[in-house]
Amino acid sequence: MAKLTVKDLDVRGKRVLVRVDYNVPMEEKDGRMVINDDTRIKETLPTLELLIEKGARIILASHLGRPNGKREPSMSLRPLAARLADLIQRPVAFVDDCIGEKAEKTAAALRPGDILLLENVRYYEEEEANDPAFAEKLAKVAEVYVNDAFGAAHRAHASTEGVARVVAKRGGQCAAGLLMERELKFLGDELENPARPFVVILGGAKVSDKIKVIDRLLERADTILIGGAMTYTFRLALGRKVGKSLVEPGRVGLAKAALEKAKTRDVQFLLPVDNIVATPVETGKLNKKGNPVIEFQNPRINDSLDIPDTEEGVDIGPQTIKTYRDLIPRARTILWNGPMGVFEDKRFSEGTYAVARAVAGTTQKGAKSIIGGGDTVKALNLTGLTDQVTFVSTGGGASLEFLEGNVLPGVAALSDR
Ligand code: 3PG
Ligand code: MG
Repeated sequence: MAKLTVKDLDVRGKRVLVRVDYNVPMEEKDGRMVINDDTRIKETLPTLELLIEKGARIILASHLGRPNGKREPSMSLRPLAARLADLIQRPVAFVDDCIGEKAEKTAAALRPGDILLLENVRYYEEEEANDPAFAEKLAKVAEVYVNDAFGAAHRAHASTEGVARVVAKRGGQCAAGLLMERELKFLGDELENPARPFVVILGGAKVSDKIKVIDRLLERADTILIGGAMTYTFRLALGRKVGKSLVEPGRVGLAKAALEKAKTRDVQFLLPVDNIVATPVETGKLNKKGNPVIEFQNPRINDSLDIPDTEEGVDIGPQTIKTYRDLIPRARTILWNGPMGVFEDKRFSEGTYAVARAVAGTTQKGAKSIIGGGDTVKALNLTGLTDQVTFVSTGGGASLEFLEGNVLPGVAALSDR
């Protein structure tokens, strides 16, 4: 690792500001916010435990949701303090602000090993604007800065980037946390020179989300297996009919270029040969977000490469599942990002679950498997196979940007070794 890590630090008695990504899925139940998944909290425990062992005074900062500079009560980090206290089995203090006198006083009173969680940094619009004066205010409590928020490292915000610059300018150290270090190792170094065959499985709705990743992985992978709605943009590129499937007609050119590049680089690039299709019907109802609720009727297997006008592709079909299930076990390295279909609907989950089982089984036989992206992780969790893969990223957008080869601002701002 080219950057300083928390292992390198001597922080006895020092105030350490740790940026974590506690942007966890939450839901309102009986008038209060409850945490649906605490993976992102659990994943920071090794860093926090190491800092406690080293005698640091710990101040945690995070964002939650997108309150756009307003004190949105449903996006308060207060419930996170209680959950962290449970998980780490120590008291966790909470202050309802991330800057100012109260935060500074509470931070000053911390003893070695004590933990303080600050309120949502995005209650200030200066956070996302990476406002230098705001970064100075955040930095008041920090002698040392640690970034363990891989999931937010693609954002150049005050708490992920600006504050590191301030601390470094004062001569303070800025280091990666253990989670950050692991993410960079698996999504970076491990894929730089992967054990071969290297099989990449890419799904999800949009070609536009993944095209840069596809382009970069075409330079490294032996095999790329495509699934999800992005299939249909590739089908359009091949002159096929896609019916009512989700497509991005504006990306057909990019899809064609990817298919060409796969040919010239001799990468096995497979699109589904069959699909589950269904007829989308408007119910006239609206969901919580105010969007129309669509119901899928008459699901069936479509083993043609063309989809009839009234139907929509919603999963990969049995023939495709068979092919992918034969190919995945040949891999020594697997990268999987994006579901194969609308797995939230049981009828269309088989493709995604079959891939999950194949990836887990291949890992158990000695391959390395790296899973990235929020939806993929959700699907993997539903299969109960999460602990049977090598590495699951906590980053959604961040893992994609990193796989694209971009420099993450939250990493760039850390001190070099
Ligand atoms: C995420 O959940 O993807 C990260 O926490 C970043 O959140 P953002 O997309 O609101 O910046
Ligand atoms: Mg996001």
